[in-house]
Amino acid sequence: MTGSKIGMSAVMMGCALILSGGMASAEDLPPLPPVPAEYADKHMPAGGWTDPKAIEEGAKIYSGESNPVVNCGSCHGKDGQPVKKGARDLRDQKNVGRYSDSFWFWRIAEGIPKTKMKAWKSLLSEEQIWQVMAFEHQFSHGGKPSEHTDYKP
Ligand code: HEC
Repeated sequence: MTGSKIGMSAVMMGCALILSGGMASAEDLPPLPPVPAEYADKHMPAGGWTDPKAIEEGAKIYSGESNPVVNCGSCHGKDGQPVKKGARDLRDQKNVGRYSDSFWFWRIAEGIPKTKMKAWKSLLSEEQIWQVMAFEHQFSHGGKPSEHTDYKP
């Protein structure tokens, strides 16, 4: 009697776990943290997403050619396919389509606590952050410069 009750609750707990697991893997990703006030007004300079000169500079920053200490590609992969476990896949529009320009800038400037993603603001100027963003943005656009019109808040 008691044994079957225990058995029953074990089954129910199993069901609950399976259900919650199923829910968590459903299409929507966890919400992004809000952009801190001091970054809310940071916006990509006009034409910055597609400016060939900016993208060229961005490529050098990303690959570590400008400064070997800043080598985004060592984790995010030279074509945006992550090479370090846990690094966000920046080829996926499901990821980058959620980043506003201010969010993206903030993450590069301040990094992500408790992850390998460091704060780069002491090593990159604001202009360089915009440049590396414009370069990275190409990963989700077939390697071509593109306006960030895929952004959906
Ligand atoms: C040592 C490895 C490493 C390096 C170098 C690195 N990143 Fe990351 N990056 C990560 C990891 C890991 C994450 C995911 C962190 C997490 O779990 O949220 C990440 C996340 C990101 C994100 C997504 C932010 C988000 O909230 O989803 C962007 C954008 C990004 N990195 C850009 C860059 C740029 C630009 C550079 C170079 C200036 C760079 N990263 C260098 C490891 C790295």
